[in-house]
Amino acid sequence: MEVIICDNYENMSKLAAGIIRQQLLIKPNSVLGLATGSTPIGTYKELVRLHKEEGLDFSQVVTFNLDEYLGLPPSHPQSYRYFMDQNLFKHINIPPGNIHVPYGHAESVMEFCAWYEAQIVAAGGIDIQLLGIGGDGHIAFNEPGSSLGSRTRLKTLTEQTIKDNARFFSNADEVPRFAITMGVGTILEARRIILLASGRSKAAIVAEAIEGPITSQVTASALQMHRDVVVILDADAGAKLKRADYYRWVYEQKKRLVPQMIGHA
Ligand code: PGA
Repeated sequence: MEVIICDNYENMSKLAAGIIRQQLLIKPNSVLGLATGSTPIGTYKELVRLHKEEGLDFSQVVTFNLDEYLGLPPSHPQSYRYFMDQNLFKHINIPPGNIHVPYGHAESVMEFCAWYEAQIVAAGGIDIQLLGIGGDGHIAFNEPGSSLGSRTRLKTLTEQTIKDNARFFSNADEVPRFAITMGVGTILEARRIILLASGRSKAAIVAEAIEGPITSQVTASALQMHRDVVVILDADAGAKLKRADYYRWVYEQKKRLVPQMIGHA
């Protein structure tokens, strides 16, 4: 795992977008795994800027989003499809047919989940997966107790997640109780993973996920088993890491001697 502690949210977002930019320059038809939530908004803003000002090309890119609330149609302002359209897709030149977000209104959820997994395989697998981390340590909606081998499926949200996400709805009662989510096993198959976290409220869970034991109680800890993960934090989210000094030292050495290796574990 590579852990990079940035001074602030803006630098965290720029670094993440820069890694995605590099990936698209090397492989213009990359398959990107994308995340929703507050954390990646700055990364998407920077990708939009790179597209508009530097011509970063998304015309061959294929995307798969991690999750979607059950029961919310793509037109619902709190659906993740709507979020992605507003924050990224409508500002870049990705063909609509290349976009995949789990369909919250699928008639048969089980069939849909199997189809979604098959689409990822048919696209050649995910090159880079972007992730946030929930207050309960989840990646995507893999709540505590999710099998570390899990696949795309229906998941019941924890009360903490419902509380955390209530800020986007008029009240907690409106937050859906279920979501369709890629599994931990699905996520671990991505070739590279970027985990982002920002803010004090994430400091303790980030430390558990990175430096604690691998456990299904903190599904982000499963990333410790992946061979190419970069964790990019702002200073607040990195505040409880025991080895923060070492991570900073590693980053300084890499910047000086092997900058091309930044973003690689
Ligand atoms: P956030 O959500 O980016 O809004 O903090 C992260 C998550 O729940 O995965």
